[in-house]
Amino acid sequence: MIKVLFVCLGNICRSPMAEYVFKDMVKKKGLEKQFYIASSATSYEEVGNDMHYGTKDKLDEKGIPYTKHKARRIEKQDYEKYDYIIGMEESNIRNILRIVGNDKDNKIYKLLDFSKNPRDIADPWYTGNFTVTYNDIVEGCIGFLDYLKRKNIVK
Ligand code: 4NP
Repeated sequence: MIKVLFVCLGNICRSPMAEYVFKDMVKKKGLEKQFYIASSATSYEEVGNDMHYGTKDKLDEKGIPYTKHKARRIEKQDYEKYDYIIGMEESNIRNILRIVGNDKDNKIYKLLDFSKNPRDIADPWYTGNFTVTYNDIVEGCIGFLDYLKRKNIVK
């Protein structure tokens, strides 16, 4: 089982969008039994809250299913629990490291590091642009799945 945790600042916009986009992607390829996929925040700001309506609207528009979401913050123990801890932007990586200590097993990545054009994913909570976020997340998820296949981690 490949355990993946997507992480952003609030766990209401980007990381749950990545969680449901990636779940849908692996399901459509018949790979869902090989994965456990979740998401979390680095801040306490939105803990317990549902996804942002902008994220839900975008998932609805694209026909991507999701279940009731409850934002949670990453815990130190999550470092041992997950194989891939994937942040959306550089500040997420710094915050994840602050919480888990260090990345001794090289588990921490930025989602678009798996794309041909590594960069941050802007926060739609500030930009209001969920279309750019969605496109970036799809690009990153495709790149991540390709990486797992290239490395023979996913069969
Ligand atoms: P996210 O967006 O990190 O993509 O979920 C944010 C949502 C809420 C806050 C910040 C970012 N906030 O500070 O409440």
